[in-house]
Amino acid sequence: MGYTAKVMEHFSNPRNMGEIENPSGVGTVGNAQCGDIMRVYLDIDDQDIVRDVKFKTFGCAAAVATSSMATELVKGKTIQDALKITNEAVCEALDGLPPVKVHCSLLAEEAIHAALWDYAEKNGITIEGLEQPKTDIHEEEEEEVY
Ligand code: FES
Repeated sequence: MGYTAKVMEHFSNPRNMGEIENPSGVGTVGNAQCGDIMRVYLDIDDQDIVRDVKFKTFGCAAAVATSSMATELVKGKTIQDALKITNEAVCEALDGLPPVKVHCSLLAEEAIHAALWDYAEKNGITIEGLEQPKTDIHEEEEEEVY
């Protein structure tokens, strides 16, 4: 259905799939349009650098490919630079998504923001420019999902 070679490559061979034990922050978001779910784990060091990032996705090929690419882009970045990685940048890095699949790429951006939000809350800090993701799934609901 018109996926680019890069999308197919990341879908077939996703980077950073899995989870991090004792993450600095974790965020879980759902896509209202399709019900797909994504969770992102971040390991952030004391210099505010994203040392490691992992994801789990219950979603379509586009969701898997965008998560894979988004985690690649976030890894090694400062929190502020990680925050600037938009779904447009992720789509561009994948040479584009079919128009009906662009909403899928929002999951990755939102899950990263939700994980950063969790990190900020755990550490009692404010991350400039970060808003609480609307689609953040609360703990109680997570229990039911997993
Ligand atoms: Fe649900 Fe793509 S159809 S994330």
